[in-house]
Amino acid sequence: MTSIKTLIDVNRDRILEELFELIRIPSVSAKEENKPDMLQAARLIKTFLMKAGADKAELFPTAGNPVVYGEKLISEKLPTVLVYGHYDVQPAEPFELWETPPFEPVIRDGKIWGRGADDDKGQLFMHIKAFELMNNTGALPCNVKFMIEGEEETGSASLEKFCRDNKKMLSADVILISDTTMISADTPSITSGLRGLSYLQAELTGPSRDLHSGLYGGAVVNPCNILCQMIASLKDADNHITIPGFYNDVIECSSDEREEMAKRPYDREKFMKSVGVTALDGEKGYSDTERIGIRPTLDINGIWGGFTGEVTKTILPSKAYAKISMRLVPDQNAEKIAKLFEDHFLSIAPAGVKVKVEYLHGGEAYVSPLDTPEYQAASSAIQESFGIRPIPVRSGGSIPIVATFEKVLGIKSILMGFGLESDAIHSPNENYPLFNFFKGIETIPLYYKYYARLKG
Ligand code: BES
Ligand code: MN
Ligand code: MN
Repeated sequence: MTSIKTLIDVNRDRILEELFELIRIPSVSAKEENKPDMLQAARLIKTFLMKAGADKAELFPTAGNPVVYGEKLISEKLPTVLVYGHYDVQPAEPFELWETPPFEPVIRDGKIWGRGADDDKGQLFMHIKAFELMNNTGALPCNVKFMIEGEEETGSASLEKFCRDNKKMLSADVILISDTTMISADTPSITSGLRGLSYLQAELTGPSRDLHSGLYGGAVVNPCNILCQMIASLKDADNHITIPGFYNDVIECSSDEREEMAKRPYDREKFMKSVGVTALDGEKGYSDTERIGIRPTLDINGIWGGFTGEVTKTILPSKAYAKISMRLVPDQNAEKIAKLFEDHFLSIAPAGVKVKVEYLHGGEAYVSPLDTPEYQAASSAIQESFGIRPIPVRSGGSIPIVATFEKVLGIKSILMGFGLESDAIHSPNENYPLFNFFKGIETIPLYYKYYARLKG
């Protein structure tokens, strides 16, 4: 029987052309104008699944974008792997910063360039191709189910209901996800945790209309000024968040865990350089990796109001806005944190401004145990394909639906991601190295092999 590696080589060009077809569809879930593209992307994935050897694949309509579900069930005696991924992508703006257009994928410098090249079209496509190649080599040792959604980048609003409504269809032993990063090919890693998220929008209203800033300024409260002051007060000099009760449910990591984390290779200079800064700042008492991996934080994602056009306009604005996200850790609850924020924000608002806080979306953090067959299979698979035992890393990113999977379906997830931090996901010039893409296709069948072995 031909090996998977040989089949990857033989089918290399076709595999890339198929992925490019998917990347060319601008399936931006945040934009109403891309509605038809969402359907098109979902249909293409369904076609790919059928061609790869699924017994069936279907589009499930939801209140938002369709979920693609496919399966191949070979034996009740074998374990079942449920693959999750998302076909929606982040908006590509600002277009002018892309070296080549975001929805016209190309290969340059050994990388695939385009929106979704990594997050998550490239990564989910590895699973479809691994599935295809396992079928073609007669090497599929588990039952497989696919659940590919189109709303991850906007908060997976329809997926919880989809899970509740289709619990039986989705029953599985493990959920396997490639939608995260690893440190590098020399230091492969598995994501052992994700942060939660609580995303809010604040709106401040001062005077009932924009006023002349000379005739009124100094005497009338300015919502832009006030918003800045209020936001600035949300962190103290040690960068602790000042919202009362914010840390109440936080599970502190043990010193053993922190010692283990500190062994992870990390180059501060290189990290600063990679993001273009000359200094870093964060919560006192914690290292950079801890600040990102195991501590909650609060960031303004955008802030606006008043006049932002060219040249000048002398006004005292009526409105000021901010989009604010809080990254959460176990056991913080997203809605509870949103409520604490709202109560606190209303309480610190001075007289003369009206404050409105709206909870947009969120979800809880996730931690993966390391001593399970589900995790060990991933560890062995990567060890075999990369030649190095991977280390677990708590990621700062979020895939809020992962905690929901555990809550609703009772299934744990394994985050076996093959992206790199340098892939510029959500940024201009998103890319995915060909090495990682093909290594992923090679590693996934090994996961199935070890998982079937460990469960058998
Ligand atoms: N795939 C990312 C999350 C990710 C990337 C986790 C790299 C760990 C490492 C996912 O598509 C994403 O962007 N999630 C959003 C949250 C979502 C609700 C918009 C995030 O983390 O900001
Ligand atoms: Mn993603
Ligand atoms: Mn994303």
